Amino acid sequence: MFNVTVIGTGYVGLVSGTVFADKGNSVICLDIDEEKINRLLRGDVPIYEPGLQELVIRNMSSGRLDFTTDAKRAVQSSDIIFIAVGTPSAEDGSADLRYVQAVCRDIAQNMDRHKIIVNKSTVPVGTADKVKLWIEEHLEKDVPFDVVSCPEFLREGSAVRDSLNPDRIVIGGANPEAVKVLNKLHEPFDAPIIETDPRSAEMIKYASNAFLATKISFINEISNICEKVDADVTMVAQGIGLDKRIGSHFLKAGVGYGGSCFPKDTNALIQIAEDVDHDFELLKSVVKINSQQRLKVIEKLQQQLGRLEDKVIGILGLAFKPNTDDMREAPSVDVIHNLKEYNSKIKVYDPVAMAMARRVLPADVVYCDGIEELLQGVDAAVLLTEWEDFKTINWGLMKDKMHRPVVIDGRNVFDPEEMRAMGIQYSSFGRQN
Ligand code: UGA
Repeated sequence: MFNVTVIGTGYVGLVSGTVFADKGNSVICLDIDEEKINRLLRGDVPIYEPGLQELVIRNMSSGRLDFTTDAKRAVQSSDIIFIAVGTPSAEDGSADLRYVQAVCRDIAQNMDRHKIIVNKSTVPVGTADKVKLWIEEHLEKDVPFDVVSCPEFLREGSAVRDSLNPDRIVIGGANPEAVKVLNKLHEPFDAPIIETDPRSAEMIKYASNAFLATKISFINEISNICEKVDADVTMVAQGIGLDKRIGSHFLKAGVGYGGSCFPKDTNALIQIAEDVDHDFELLKSVVKINSQQRLKVIEKLQQQLGRLEDKVIGILGLAFKPNTDDMREAPSVDVIHNLKEYNSKIKVYDPVAMAMARRVLPADVVYCDGIEELLQGVDAAVLLTEWEDFKTINWGLMKDKMHRPVVIDGRNVFDPEEMRAMGIQYSSFGRQN
């Protein structure tokens, strides 16, 4: 068992730290946000992530998981230090490494003995070398250390499950001894381990997210064509997905991807390519298709309602996907801002993202307490997040509450025939409605 420090208690840091503790290691998580650390010390998890709160409490009570704002204590109590801080987008789309840089200084200033420093944040190719330099720059005495790149592939909403059962673990390090230690740390996860150099590990992370985003934009383009040639994209996705070389995941057509990762990482990879004079045209198209896809909702509303001015539109689902309250780059934000430009009146409901939504949506949006309140008097309902609660809406009953029985399904959740049979004017993506 190992002593592990995780720096940064966002999605990646908090979940990874907790899961390492659950596998029997002694873990201390460090963050500069005192309020967050105090909440965590009370067993109060500040993010919505199914199963995480229970896991945090269980591992805190068993004494394997602790939280602190004290960098010295965090750095000196461990042999392995994970960096899991944010790498937001800079203005040109590249990853802003200022938090990683600040963490390197904290580590260096408190380093008392050999450490393995592991990059878990999503960082541009070559960052492991920079981390080495940044640490060396601030080292106060001659302490040896290794830098390893170990990207994270968990998804929000299923972060605990993904972290406990990863498809693969990637360890990119120059020193075989350090790689061996990380291999041992990851043994209990029972997943294939790819040992590689740090640059390839860093690239694997970006290439994975870029590929998944490409699958989504690809199926969305196919869905746009399906609409014009009277084909059904769900059937097409099933038909191509059964080919093992293609795979059935990430072929759901709709309003496209959002979240804190795909939009940021696709742009960062475009920038990484640009920096070496490579025009990543394919990925640029993926990004463009994704931003156009959201606005298809407006077209579909116009087809059903004509002018959108003063029409009351009810938005079902605000989070960028179900099982999270994360609103970062959520399609709902763009759709709502666009509808405001058409002077529509907007009502919204999301089972968990309402508090987050209040921070980012226009001031005059009406927040509803539930599905019924949302649908009351609307000219159209637009589903943007496929929460389970929405899948069981009885439209036959609900349509009487609506001003017009118009439903735009941005995630292809409902069956077009059933909707039609219930008298709904139904519109989804890439299917005959
Ligand atoms: C994504 C990756 O899936 C993770 O492997 C990765 O670790 C993470 O980014 C990251 O880099 O941190 P996440 O953003 O949490 O995870 O969510 P996903 O489940 O991948 O969904 C992303 C977006 O794609 C959502 O808006 C979702 O609605 C959309 N999507 C997904 C589709 O539109 N169609 C699909 O078929 C699948």
